[in-house]
Amino acid sequence: MQSILVLHGPNLNLLGSREPGIYGQMTFDDLNARLIEAGARLEMEVRIFQSNHEGVLIDQLHQAQEWARGVVFNPAGYTHTSVALRDAIAAIRIPVVEVHLSNVHGREEFRQTSLTAPVCMGTIAGFGWQSYTLGLEALKGYLDENGERRVECV
Ligand code: DQA
Repeated sequence: MQSILVLHGPNLNLLGSREPGIYGQMTFDDLNARLIEAGARLEMEVRIFQSNHEGVLIDQLHQAQEWARGVVFNPAGYTHTSVALRDAIAAIRIPVVEVHLSNVHGREEFRQTSLTAPVCMGTIAGFGWQSYTLGLEALKGYLDENGERRVECV
């Protein structure tokens, strides 16, 4: 079993009631239940964590190195602002896949820049809750192909 961290950034705890026209009607708890199920199908043990605080997210990324093979991360609003989260992703030795529910590339200009994406393995955006399951699949494929090795992003 590969242990994987799914990390949710700020405001994602409000999924279901938060701007459902953009982020969908699925609640945060239902999303997480689907991620556990998807993980089981992929033979991955999925552990889930959410925080509204930048430093707490950074601590989770640091700690994940001790137990996780990789991270599926939705940095939410911090995607567009956080040098510190970008540095944390670059600092850890495990691969990180960035995911977004919405297609950030088609939204307001400030959302079209991601400070975190360049140091992630790749990004999946615009598929609603399925961006997360696609992220798990991408991570699975990557880990099966590359084992422990983290291929440096350019
Ligand atoms: C988001 C997109 C971000 O721009 C926004 O701040 C979020 C959610 C998404 O999943 O689509 O909080 O990361």
